[in-house]
Amino acid sequence: MRIDVVTIFPDYLRPLELALVGRAASRDLVDIQTHDLRAWTHDVHRTVDDSPYGGGPGMVMRPEPWDAALRDIVARDPSRRPRVVVPTPAGVPFTQSYAAELAEQDWLIFCCGRYEGIDGRVVDAWADDEISIGDYVLAGGEVATLVMVEAVTRLLPGVVGNAESIIDDSFAHGLLEGPVYTRPPVWEGRAVPEILRSGDHAAIARWRREEALRRTRRRRPELLDRIELSDADRAVVASTIVAAHGGGDDPPVTGVEDAVTAAGAAGVVEDAVTVAERGTIGDGPAPSGCASSHCS
Ligand SMILES: C[S@@+](CC[C@H](N)C(=O)[O-])C[C@H]1O[C@@H](n2cnc3c(N)ncnc32)[C@H](O)[C@@H]1O
Repeated sequence: MRIDVVTIFPDYLRPLELALVGRAASRDLVDIQTHDLRAWTHDVHRTVDDSPYGGGPGMVMRPEPWDAALRDIVARDPSRRPRVVVPTPAGVPFTQSYAAELAEQDWLIFCCGRYEGIDGRVVDAWADDEISIGDYVLAGGEVATLVMVEAVTRLLPGVVGNAESIIDDSFAHGLLEGPVYTRPPVWEGRAVPEILRSGDHAAIARWRREEALRRTRRRRPELLDRIELSDADRAVVASTIVAAHGGGDDPPVTGVEDAVTAAGAAGVVEDAVTVAERGTIGDGPAPSGCASSHCS
């Protein structure tokens, strides 16, 4: 894969020379070229910005240097058409499946905005994707590009030594990955879960699935709506609520097994979760105390 990055701070992209991405580049698995946008300016100050039409604070990146840069870079390989990515907080959320889609391309160009962003006309003319890495505002597109390039590069064939580690990653199957452990077996009085040392691979796989379900239920419950769950999965999801509310001063939750059964019959996870969180079957009153899905 070839990746071009256009920025006014080429040094910001230096981390791409390190670690996994740097090694991938040195093995010719990815070819990353960084370009200084100011190389396509023609005034003595190498100006890339101007004040915004309509007034308001900040500056906007002018369209001419961007258009000249992109034309020039694209012309260097007329046999291929790159996919042009503009990072922006106003973009479509970047996800693991988006990373996988970009990893299928053979040429990506990232355009790193600064100030209030890039003139909308040149974005309309060139961008195939406008992508946000999260609901917060960075000072520029460089860090967002680092995030996306790393997420994409580690999906390229041969980049990650053990391809199975990618298959088991968080989001690969729609769930968060559960906790992982290494030696020693007991650290500071905390033991590694016995099952992981049992050698029973089927039981270990089951335990990992259950941990992934529990963690996803506690931290990112909305992800569960997007995947198909077995009856056994649904039981784990519902029992996670019992665990979350079962200790300390939290009120006891009743009727969870009935909730699971009812939800299983209806084939709807959300029903089990909702009923279990309410703590009763039917229209009974909600228990007092924590009902937050983030409580764990
Ligand atoms: C200060 S921001 C501009 C924010 C813009 N005024 C807005 O509110 O949408 C400057 C640049 O940082 C980058 N950026 C900031 N936050 C980002 C995010 N969450 N995801 C991707 N890029 C981001 C974009 O390249 C953007 O053009």
